[in-house]
Amino acid sequence: MADSPRVLVLNGPNLNMLGKREPEVYGHTTLADVDARCASVGESLGLAVTCRQSNHEGELVGWIQEAREQQDGLVINAGAYTHTSLALHDALRASDLPVVEVHLSNIHRREDFRRHSYVALAAVGMICGLGPLGYELALQALAERFRSAAAGTP
Ligand code: DQA
Repeated sequence: MADSPRVLVLNGPNLNMLGKREPEVYGHTTLADVDARCASVGESLGLAVTCRQSNHEGELVGWIQEAREQQDGLVINAGAYTHTSLALHDALRASDLPVVEVHLSNIHRREDFRRHSYVALAAVGMICGLGPLGYELALQALAERFRSAAAGTP
């Protein structure tokens, strides 16, 4: 592992619309705010954080494939692909990286079709319903995991 563990924060479709999109569900924070917060929280946790967003499934799959060689962990809010994408599920599994799934909204309190996640099956954990704080908690969880691994504790 590199000196500073590297973490890719991936956002999927429509998350570029944060702040404008259904603010009663997703709040007023923009994706630029989320990315800036991830970078600064990552820095304080000793992580090298890269943030990316795409509306295209294949592009997300490509970035996850690259992450296998270039990153040490992954935080992902796959948006609607969470509930549909076996391709993302397979890519996440193939990455062999610790993955933390994030959702701004509580997907278990909404429509039934949001309750199933293909991402969760490939993730070490999932945080939902806590808004943008979820991304920070996910970074904290990965930082703790890297620390424990380096110290040889479970
Ligand atoms: C979301 C929840 C998904 O069901 C939805 O399709 C999104 C956003 C969330 O962050 O709450 O695009 O992932």
